[in-house]
Amino acid sequence: MNNGLFITGTDTGVGKTMVAATLAYALQQRQIDFGYIKPMESGISSPEYLAQESDAALVKKAGALPEQLEEIVPFTFEEPLAPLLAARRAGIKITKEHLVNSIKERINPTRLTIVEGAGGLLAPLCDNYLILDLIKELKFPTLVVCRTALGSVNHTLLTLDRLRHEKIDPIGIIANNVTSTPGIAEETFTSQLTEFNPITVLGNLPYMKNLDNDFSNWRKLAAHIDIKTLLKLTYTPKPQE
Ligand SMILES: Nc1ncnc2c1ncn2[C@@H]1O[C@H](COP(=O)(O)OP(=O)(O)OP(=O)(O)O)[C@@H](O)[C@H]1O
Ligand SMILES: [Mg+2]
Repeated sequence: MNNGLFITGTDTGVGKTMVAATLAYALQQRQIDFGYIKPMESGISSPEYLAQESDAALVKKAGALPEQLEEIVPFTFEEPLAPLLAARRAGIKITKEHLVNSIKERINPTRLTIVEGAGGLLAPLCDNYLILDLIKELKFPTLVVCRTALGSVNHTLLTLDRLRHEKIDPIGIIANNVTSTPGIAEETFTSQLTEFNPITVLGNLPYMKNLDNDFSNWRKLAAHIDIKTLLKLTYTPKPQE
């Protein structure tokens, strides 16, 4: 079934949630039935944080999702650390079977399910279990979000190489400009990257001031993503749609 999208990235903080929120906004505008799952989220220091600032809250808001936050994010941890470390320090043991079951029971195959990873491709989730293992388990088309800053050509090529080494053919990248003062590295990022890896560039997002506070920015960001191609690669509409 082709109704899924796994959003991974080259690192933490590269913009996976912003891409998920932008897509969520665009999908609800198009009246496409979709869901969003953030399997594990760290740094959830209080119920207020979960309700207002978490990845789950942002994407729920952007996509006007009716689900409760607990349905979107099955496991949360207080400390802002990689999920496995945050769980261990909190004395919580989550097996990969428990994790995978919690995700699969949240997937409705008739809708487009967006799953956001944590950190980068090799971020640890459970004992001997990385984001990469979850991508292999779910078999959803995989999108890589990356920064455009100096160093990101290296990080992105490494991520793409590892995916291909694992026989996973990513559907493309979205390059995200997270700096207010883009320079030559940012401006030449996609041309430098595609010179060494002919990956499809599905989006090139500009820096947006006050992105987290001004939600009208999602409409502006959506204009910088090739949503038509992305949907073709991830979504099979129901016959009546
Ligand atoms: N295009 C952009 N313009 C301005 N700020 C941005 C942009 N993209 C992301 N940011 C900011 O960068 C920060 C990190 O982005 P985001 O939360 O999407 O990263 P992430 O990859 O989802 O991180 P995590 O691994 O923690 O889930 C956020 O505060 C966000 O507002
Ligand atoms: Mg995120």
